Amino acid sequence: MLYAFRVERLLLTGGAGNVARLLRPLLATKPGRTVRLLDVKQPNDVLPSEEVMIGSVTDPGFVAQAVDGVDAIVHLGGQSRESQVRDVIESNMYGTHVLFEAARSHRVGRVVVASSNHAAGFHTRAGEPLAAEVAGRPDTLYGWSKVAMEACGRLYADRFGMDVICLRIGLWSPAPPGLRGLAMWLSPADGGRLVEACLSAPSPGFRIVWGISRNTRRWWSLAEGEAIGYFPQDDAEEHADKLIAEHGEPDFVNDPVLNRVGGQWCDVPLGGAD
Ligand SMILES: NC(=O)c1ccc[n+]([C@@H]2O[C@H](COP(=O)([O-])OP(=O)(O)OC[C@H]3O[C@@H](n4cnc5c(N)ncnc54)[C@H](O)[C@@H]3O)[C@@H](O)[C@H]2O)c1
Repeated sequence: MLYAFRVERLLLTGGAGNVARLLRPLLATKPGRTVRLLDVKQPNDVLPSEEVMIGSVTDPGFVAQAVDGVDAIVHLGGQSRESQVRDVIESNMYGTHVLFEAARSHRVGRVVVASSNHAAGFHTRAGEPLAAEVAGRPDTLYGWSKVAMEACGRLYADRFGMDVICLRIGLWSPAPPGLRGLAMWLSPADGGRLVEACLSAPSPGFRIVWGISRNTRRWWSLAEGEAIGYFPQDDAEEHADKLIAEHGEPDFVNDPVLNRVGGQWCDVPLGGAD
């Protein structure tokens, strides 16, 4: 019989970032849980159930200390935007390898990886819903690094039997920031539900899951999330009137930007602004 996994000590990388700011209060509500925040920057408003470690995921000695004694890792830390090639390779690809290697050597059996819709940005809306594990099709160097991070997770799952869940996150924010968000928003509460599902699912092995809410206009599959116990409750449609009044009615079928997973990111200069 499989039992739900229980996480009392959790390492959260990228603990000072925007997603962490939304997620931390939800993770910390679990009685008896300690959350260790790792970041190169000092997180704000540290809670009594949180510990802080300042340093880089690219520093193997530091990461080995950070993973020591934890039950699971949620890996958010790294470059979250399009950037120069050395930066995405160092922060995202190398940093993720350092983290997996430390997890393996310290017998941490579960890692949740913040991947991105930009790992699959050039997929278009053609038949739906779009499966979460659709092949990598990055729209940027950043997206390429996310494909590599997923592949690193697959390697450690296959070689060492680790549980690794990669979240192809849409837009995780307090409210959908634009029309694209009507299809791909992840609300703060659903983000908390998603991460808790990843942490508690019995023996998930390797998975890829879309990180979105139950948006009326979604065209990405919720099935892979439901398979690990993620049942989103929020819907970006609550914000539709305001967004449509500002930007007009979106066409997620024919609009050549809105019908791509990565939206406008498919057109940004590679390597970021000159
Ligand atoms: N916010 C979204 O909607 C969204 C969408 C898709 C994917 N993601 C992914 O989710 C994660 C979190 O996103 P975010 O919006 O909070 O980004 P963010 O940039 O606000 O946070 C990232 C954090 O990582 C830290 N960091 C950077 N390099 C580091 C290093 N070498 N070692 C340790 N910490 C480092 C930064 O200081 C920052 O606090 C990222 O991996 C991002 O790619 C986010």
